[in-house]
Amino acid sequence: MDLVTFLVFGFSCLILLSLWRQKSGRGKLPPGPTPLPIIGNFLQIDVKDISQSLTNFSKVYGPVFTLYLGLKPAVVLHGYEAVKEALIDHAEEFAERGSFPVGEKINKGLGIIFSNGKRWKEIRRFSLMTLRNLGMGKRSIEDRVQEEAQCLVEELRKTNGAPCDPTFILGCAPCNVICSIIFQNRFDYKDKDFLNLMEKLNENVKILSSPWLQFCNSFPIIIDYCPGSHKTIAKNLDHIKSYLLGKIKEHQESLDVTNPRDFIDYYLIKCKQVNEKPNEHLEFTLENLSTTVTDLFAAGTETTSTTLRYALLLLLKHPHVTAKVQEEIDRVVGRHRSPCMQDRSHMPYTDAMIHEVQRFIDLIPTNLPHAVTCDVKFRNYLIPKGTTVITSLSSVLHDSKEFPNPETFDPGHFLDGNGNFKKSDYFMPFSAGKRICAGEGLARMELFLFLTTVLQNFQLKSLVHPKDINTTPIVNGFASVPPPYQLCFIPF
Ligand code: HEM
Ligand SMILES: *[C@@H]1O[C@H](CO)[C@@H](O)[C@H](O)[C@H]1NC(C)=O
Ligand SMILES: *[C@@H]1O[C@H](CO)[C@@H](O)[C@H](O)[C@H]1NC(C)=O
Repeated sequence: MDLVTFLVFGFSCLILLSLWRQKSGRGKLPPGPTPLPIIGNFLQIDVKDISQSLTNFSKVYGPVFTLYLGLKPAVVLHGYEAVKEALIDHAEEFAERGSFPVGEKINKGLGIIFSNGKRWKEIRRFSLMTLRNLGMGKRSIEDRVQEEAQCLVEELRKTNGAPCDPTFILGCAPCNVICSIIFQNRFDYKDKDFLNLMEKLNENVKILSSPWLQFCNSFPIIIDYCPGSHKTIAKNLDHIKSYLLGKIKEHQESLDVTNPRDFIDYYLIKCKQVNEKPNEHLEFTLENLSTTVTDLFAAGTETTSTTLRYALLLLLKHPHVTAKVQEEIDRVVGRHRSPCMQDRSHMPYTDAMIHEVQRFIDLIPTNLPHAVTCDVKFRNYLIPKGTTVITSLSSVLHDSKEFPNPETFDPGHFLDGNGNFKKSDYFMPFSAGKRICAGEGLARMELFLFLTTVLQNFQLKSLVHPKDINTTPIVNGFASVPPPYQLCFIPF
């Protein structure tokens, strides 16, 4: 045997062996396209439109199938039935955060988004409780969002009705709401620290949603060789954390245990309680605090601001919808006071419009990855403990039976024949089950108060004819982002 024959023979054996191992290893996993050795199904997936790729696969393999992202299998759930069966009916088993090597590397298992097990439960429970307590406090979260809504309007007024790209201003408002919850005060939109914080956060979101990073996540071995991007993320996070640690120090010095002002105060009080009860096995350290706070910024800023920006674009495209919403605002709120959350139940059309924005834009089409906490029998398959589970929220939000003409923007999807608001179990932009977005209540409050306050004060004017406005998202990897556009805010 000469060398070439030997190599060809040897290589063929390797391929066969790896195919055989994958076949036998996945005996009980759902069916799926045949993976290549090492790279799995990577070449069969369009990284620029993962969601559509999953839909295409589901047409061949059904609502539950297996994809190999690199060496490891991931179970994909497509359509309401499968997603609901996993996230809601088997909530506990499907509550693990799926492998997100870049995230794990950065957060070291701390915080909320990438943590698991006891730590995750503890810090998630603490965060939800604190948000609830702050919501009912002397200065409630609603007050904070209303205050920010007025500042947003003042900032928009400064554009003097000239054409502007709303990205920056709409990015400031949700970031400031998180600032107000975490460290009690908001910032001027020109404040240096604030701009710095936003810049670092935005850069990280950009990197995290790039196809290149999806690739790194599928091949953790190469993370250390990824040219720079995850290192930039880590550098930005270090910067954010050192800023936060400074803020935490200030809070420690001015802490009044009987009168917590914000998220940091609640955490410091919890630290004290835990230290006094030393048999508690979960530590509350300052590192956990800064990671958790960073998670809240990361999860709560760009998501909300992108939704707001997309909402205005859709309102420009559909002026008859905007007119109806403004008529409702005039009737229920008037011009002389700020909209508040109580108004929402009297404003079914506006409520339906906001639901429809979230449904239509499908912000996080393939959700964040989940994993199973133990071996799970699911339908006729056996999913081994730790397997990544990808749920297509897109397939639920764009279900054509629940929402006729799902690709059309129509608030009627959430209204009954009498114009009353109509709930839908398919409304899952925040996911569902135990991992459901921890900021859902806050996000929905922000969307309602910001949009109604802006529409109460301004006529939106497009620079082009509505029929020429393109509303197709430009990135469809991790998040859907609207195409760049300009508009004028004409004060009433
Ligand atoms: C329109 C705005 C928002 C959308 C569409 C959204 C959507 C989501 C989605 C899809 C997830 C993943 C859920 C899962 O793994 O099943 C998530 C997680 C999360 N979100 Fe949001 N979110 C929004 C705003 C916010 C805000 C304002 C906050 C701030 C408090 C926030 C905090 C979180 C946190 C902490 C997690 C991680 C939860 C966990 O892993 O246990 N989100 N969000
Ligand atoms: C999905 O399938 C359609 C039609 O078969 C094809 O045109 C499209 O390119 C596919 N999309 C992706 C992302 O694979
Ligand atoms: C906080 O971090 C430490 C390690 O730094 C860890 O042992 C502990 O479990 C964490 N606590 C929580 C509540 O996440």
